[in-house]
Amino acid sequence: MAASVRKAVFPVGGLGTRFLPVTKALPKEMLPIVDKPLIHYAVEEARAAGIEEFIFVTGKGKSAIEDHFDHSSELEALLRSRGKEEAAESLSRWLPAPGKVAYTRQQEPLGLGHAVWCARHFIGDEPFAVLLPDDVFLAAVPCLKQMVDAYSGRGGMVAAETITGADISNYGVLDVSDDNGAVVSVRGLVEKPKPEDAPSNLAVVGRYIMTPKVFDYLDRQETGAGGEIQLTDALSWLATEEEFAGIRIEGERFDCGKRTGYLRANIAFALQRDDMRDDLTSYIRSLGIGA
Ligand code: G1P
Repeated sequence: MAASVRKAVFPVGGLGTRFLPVTKALPKEMLPIVDKPLIHYAVEEARAAGIEEFIFVTGKGKSAIEDHFDHSSELEALLRSRGKEEAAESLSRWLPAPGKVAYTRQQEPLGLGHAVWCARHFIGDEPFAVLLPDDVFLAAVPCLKQMVDAYSGRGGMVAAETITGADISNYGVLDVSDDNGAVVSVRGLVEKPKPEDAPSNLAVVGRYIMTPKVFDYLDRQETGAGGEIQLTDALSWLATEEEFAGIRIEGERFDCGKRTGYLRANIAFALQRDDMRDDLTSYIRSLGIGA
């Protein structure tokens, strides 16, 4: 039987320059969508897919992420002393189990491939997931769960979305050898191609599963697009060694690395909430936009 996917890597070392000044002192992964930080959604999604071990590749100024995934003893005690048991409980019930969360630091910003390579000693000899917290999904079946359900022992799998027009140049793009619907066979990937060079209109959207064989390539520390060590290049190599697939994800993705994508996500997630939907809907209607 194929090994299950039990470990996930969260690259959270990025500087978040697109969100300055808020990210001057706050990690971009701690920006809230409604009332939970971006990274919280990625961890929840991983857990829903059966992930048991959470590996964060952090960087300078990211300690708020570690604090978020730890007990806040004073706050919990204060809430309990005020009889707010449920509120206290809600601060900690989603914490990773003791010893099941690890932090390592990417000491230099050398690229996404390098960030994942920094986690290599935590992975060992089993397939693992990578989740980029910038991409947030609103889906009946969480994105990574859709992938884990379809993975079945391949060398790798990426979440894919059709992107039209010149925007394709912002993504890793799939070179598809066989397109059978939801799951496509992939023979290579290209990082941020010019639109005219894109091998397809299917782009990688921030969720990956791969075997540790990927480290054979990343060990070489070769640079690619933008002079960075690219995960996409490592996966393109992996696709020549092992069976590799892309899966079209059912649901809506928000690119929270972009300010408008981030704001859209806030609106969409707030509209899901019973305590906010009516108020927000009447406000949006009152704006009379596009009526
Ligand atoms: C990264 C990856 C890219 C992928 C994208 C998805 O790019 O390098 O291949 O398509 O995430 O969000 P970034 O957005 O960090 O530039």
